[in-house]
Amino acid sequence: MTFQQVYGYEPTVRYSAPGRVNLIGEHTDYNDGYVLPFAIDRRTVASIGQRDDRVLRVASAFDPSSVVELTLDELDPSRMHGWSAYVLGIAWALREQAGADLSDKRGFDVFIESDVPVGAGLSSSAAIECGVALAFNDLWELGLDRKTLARVGQYSENHAVGAPTGIMDQSASLLGEQDAVVFLDCRTLDTAVVDLALEANGLEVLVIDTRVEHAHATGGYKARRESCERGARILGVEALRDVSVEDLPRAEERLDDETFRRVRHIVTEDQRVLDTVRTLREDGPRAIGSLLVASHESMRDDFEISVPELDLAVATAVEHGAVGARMTGGGFGGAAIALVDREARGAIADAVTSAFAAAGYREPTVFTVHAAQGARRD
Ligand code: GLA
Repeated sequence: MTFQQVYGYEPTVRYSAPGRVNLIGEHTDYNDGYVLPFAIDRRTVASIGQRDDRVLRVASAFDPSSVVELTLDELDPSRMHGWSAYVLGIAWALREQAGADLSDKRGFDVFIESDVPVGAGLSSSAAIECGVALAFNDLWELGLDRKTLARVGQYSENHAVGAPTGIMDQSASLLGEQDAVVFLDCRTLDTAVVDLALEANGLEVLVIDTRVEHAHATGGYKARRESCERGARILGVEALRDVSVEDLPRAEERLDDETFRRVRHIVTEDQRVLDTVRTLREDGPRAIGSLLVASHESMRDDFEISVPELDLAVATAVEHGAVGARMTGGGFGGAAIALVDREARGAIADAVTSAFAAAGYREPTVFTVHAAQGARRD
């Protein structure tokens, strides 16, 4: 299906936005902490036709038989269902969160296609939100900057889609740059671009999609977020970002065991992000392997968001010579990443696939990703 086949005319513009991989810094974003994601060379494309009335129509290649329609006067989360909320929610959030005046604006026909795998923890949803946010911002001439658009995307995800996620995915999708990682302070939204230099070092990032599906609107993600908020409240800080590694022994005395382990993950993970940035700058990507592995162990043992498939992917990749590996994204399924020598890529992918078969797990999908440019008009 194409835009033409759904709407019967050619689109006027196309915008695209990438999914993301997080190199390190997991669940730190909603704790006002640090993250280090990069935008990947898998994108969502939003093809758009401009209308003369106030109707927004939305269709996608995943579900071409259904075209969802709403006017700009009816924008409200209660009227947004299923995947179309990722598009319609952006128009609503531009008004609600960024204060955009849509009263004299005209609608669009939107068609979404994507090669970001869905449910793999690679932010297929943020890719839709960010492509659409950039498009609406341009076409409605709202003049909002990319950091504001990231907040709009998060607001829509939180309130229109209903997933209590942080700001990382939208920031990566909007601010990503070729061959670089985005070092983001989630409290201030200050960013620095850090050179990854993979090519120069003969390295690649492999994604190992376990195909174990997860959903962040329900379940574990929300529970982890609540544990972190409880920890911060008991420790008397605004967010866990304000707790340092040196504060942990005192925190242990004041928290129950489970809350303490959740807090310890966040506090040590923030430190690992800072250490990774420094290591990348001073010693290059080959030196970050042990930080990646320590991050995985912390998520497995303290934050308890890994699953056996992710643990097996990480252990097998490291045993077969990966520089480092860890699960990436929200957890409870999805993908792991492994930093590997270009020549070792095939052997490591085969070893992981065989290990999955031997364990009786579903065959994983393994592919290489490159750090790519963020959302843009194509
Ligand atoms: C999901 C959320 C992000 C972040 C990660 C975990 O991807 O959307 O905001 O919390 O999980 O780091």
